[in-house]
Amino acid sequence: MRFVDLIEKKKNGYSLTPEEIHFFIEGYVAGKIPDYQVSAFLMAVCFQSMEEEETACLCKEMLASGEQVDLSSCGGVLCDKHSTGGVGDKTSLALIPMVAACGLKVAKMSGRGLGHTGGTLDKLESIPGFQTSLSMHAFLQQIKEIGLAIISQSASLVPADKMLYALRDVTATVDSIPLIAASIMSKKLACGSDCILLDVKYGEGAFMKDVQSAKKLAEEMIAIGTYFHKDTKAMISSMEEPLGNAIGNALEVKEAILSLQGKGSADFMELCLEAGSIMLLQGKIAKDKEEAYRKLKAAVSSGAALEKLREMIAAQHGDVSVIDHTDRLPQAKHILPIYASQKGYIHRIHAMRIGTLAMRLGAGRLTKDDIIDPAAGIVLQKKSSDIIEKGAVLAYVHTNRELEEGWLQEFYECYEIHSFAKEKEVLIQGIIG
Ligand code: URA
Repeated sequence: MRFVDLIEKKKNGYSLTPEEIHFFIEGYVAGKIPDYQVSAFLMAVCFQSMEEEETACLCKEMLASGEQVDLSSCGGVLCDKHSTGGVGDKTSLALIPMVAACGLKVAKMSGRGLGHTGGTLDKLESIPGFQTSLSMHAFLQQIKEIGLAIISQSASLVPADKMLYALRDVTATVDSIPLIAASIMSKKLACGSDCILLDVKYGEGAFMKDVQSAKKLAEEMIAIGTYFHKDTKAMISSMEEPLGNAIGNALEVKEAILSLQGKGSADFMELCLEAGSIMLLQGKIAKDKEEAYRKLKAAVSSGAALEKLREMIAAQHGDVSVIDHTDRLPQAKHILPIYASQKGYIHRIHAMRIGTLAMRLGAGRLTKDDIIDPAAGIVLQKKSSDIIEKGAVLAYVHTNRELEEGWLQEFYECYEIHSFAKEKEVLIQGIIG
């Protein structure tokens, strides 16, 4: 077999056979197929796409390129959750303790933030002492003992994805639905859970810019999950504006803690309850949605979910006192109010632009090697459809740096404010699977 023939085949819109996909991934990981040929192939996929079976087969070969986690010693049904990412998305920090408090075991491996989007690991690491890099033995032991753990992905899982993603990143071939689906699902499957809930975001701050593409990505990922006999479901949710109020690592940990104390923002809690209810159904912890909601709400109001977060922080060597004293999380030197320059109804808060502005304060990374400032970020005081008076506080900026020239003007440009009211946009567009 020659790889050039496979490039030609894909260029002309044909599907690759399982043997050809095996030849591709095995040859690439072994260094037998050069980057320039794989780049051409990836670009052909961007234009010609892949059939569902081809994508599942690609995922299977990527999965086979590395190790896989065996969670069988943890006992019971294990559930994983993945978000395609966005601005202010601290869902895992509150949701995982909530479902774990209801008796569902969660073994989660997470990633870091890049660009305008945040990453769960960076958020957790803003808790003084918190360790995200655990041995496999410690990871499994923690799940057995307290039912939840969130750690960084082991380097030995899915090496093919690391190589392919790095190449896609520099060849403008990231935004292909089959490539994204195979990439995400290979990593989720390698983590070994029985059930997977995918939070597929759409909108300005997300990979998928509209609901249709988000649904298409969700369907492809569910098809892969089904091929591997995993109970896979997807929630399609909006990332047109930041989720909740806080954007920035320690600020988002604080918001998650407040949410587990019953003081969370409405949109964030809505997302956690909906995601949690699907997970409890997948894990057979609840027999219907109503019971699932009841259990999750009780886990919050009784303090059991907050207790689970405390247990996870303690098990991963973090300072648990941050739960009762959130001022022990990293604090910025300056907390600057930003006042509304006009009265009106907020119609939009542009997620991507706000996320980029938070990144420029140090809350995120422009390149993979940038060092983030855990204290930096923005806390919104109003969300879209809210009314704001001229001179009222729109947001607080938490920063250790002087604001760059033009930053404030750009911040105002993130808002669309009009004199007429606007209905709140739907946050969750549907559940698939
Ligand atoms: N996230 C991933 O893990 N892979 C992709 O291809 C895109 C987003």
